[in-house]
Amino acid sequence: MRIFLGVTGASGALYGGRALNALTAAGHHVGLCISDAGARVISHELLGEGPRPASYDDVRMRFTDMFAQAPGAVDMLDPDDIACSFASGSSGARAALVAPCSTSTLGRIAHGTGDNLIHRVAEVMLKERGQLVLMPRETPLSLIQLRNMVAVTEAGGVILPASPGLYAGPETIDDLIDFVVGKALDVLRIDHALFTRWGEPRIATTGDDA
Ligand SMILES: Cc1cc2nc3c(=O)[nH]c(=O)nc-3n(C[C@H](O)[C@H](O)[C@H](O)COP(=O)(O)O)c2cc1C
Repeated sequence: MRIFLGVTGASGALYGGRALNALTAAGHHVGLCISDAGARVISHELLGEGPRPASYDDVRMRFTDMFAQAPGAVDMLDPDDIACSFASGSSGARAALVAPCSTSTLGRIAHGTGDNLIHRVAEVMLKERGQLVLMPRETPLSLIQLRNMVAVTEAGGVILPASPGLYAGPETIDDLIDFVVGKALDVLRIDHALFTRWGEPRIATTGDDA
């Protein structure tokens, strides 16, 4: 399946990384688009190099190298390339995940005032009645942000906050992240083994920090 993955400038770049890892490990073809602010957060949170990288494209490539199980299955998409195939309803892609999703991108999508590829793909998913999952990470939330979430939900999108459950007994940061990513893949109807389902025996963790 062809899936679009947007990574924006909210905290939680690891959500996007684990999503890329799970999607490519499952054999999906991923159109990956990282906003400039997303690259800043990746640089800060995952590369430990602060939020002002010398090159956004270098950060994008290193992120892909870190997380893609099958690099050939990833199309790195420029946020300004609104002419790429994912930008059209005729592309046939029917699933998009934005993880993490900044409140800025949320607002753009909610109001149909996009100016980059991530906004455009979200708009296409809504108009084509495809699946759109946005994973915002912000707290507390303003009335504007809450209303934007309502608007996206009313238009057919799914708001899936980066809000891990603790009932599955997480032991690592990866466990927490994988819980939320797994919930997003559930909504997209993509098989995964990212967390143990309630009532099932616990599976071994995959985290590096176990
Ligand atoms: C280190 C860092 C952390 C940030 N964390 C968040 C956050 O958790 N949630 C959020 O909505 N914005 C956050 N921002 C602000 C967004 O990056 C900013 O609104 C940006 O314009 C979003 O652009 P984008 O939606 O095109 O990625 C953060 C910015 C930086 C530099």
